[in-house]
Amino acid sequence: MIYSDKVMDHFRNPRNVGVIEDADGVGEVGNPVCGDIMKITISVDDTDTITDAKFQTLGCGAAIATSSMATELVKGKKIQDAIEISKKDLADELDGLPAVKMHCSVLATDGLKVAVDDYLKKHGREPLSGEIKSADPNYNPEEDEDFEDEDE
Ligand code: FES
Repeated sequence: MIYSDKVMDHFRNPRNVGVIEDADGVGEVGNPVCGDIMKITISVDDTDTITDAKFQTLGCGAAIATSSMATELVKGKKIQDAIEISKKDLADELDGLPAVKMHCSVLATDGLKVAVDDYLKKHGREPLSGEIKSADPNYNPEEDEDFEDEDE
């Protein structure tokens, strides 16, 4: 399996590892394919801009690299824009992921959505993301058309 230099860099030197104390939003998700888990914490200012993000991922190299990239990408973004980041966006930023590893990026994208919704709920606001697929124990990414599209 061939990984890009960027994937290897983010795997070996992951950015923003850890937990933000007193985070404004916390997201914890699991990957139903492999059982790997991820926690992301975010700080959000009063303009709904993400000012900091940190993660802890118990998972494979692709999961760590996509989590690292996600925390880099969301800093300075509005929460509405942050939750639009897709698995394909993360893979593209990393110069691609092997097709069989695309499912690994679900931890980062879904963790982020859960963290943003957690922030909104804490402020008495409506969540933006709705259903989080990885929160459903019956979810099978291999039957998800999103994944098929992104593998091409
Ligand atoms: S194999 Fe579990 S996230 Fe990659």
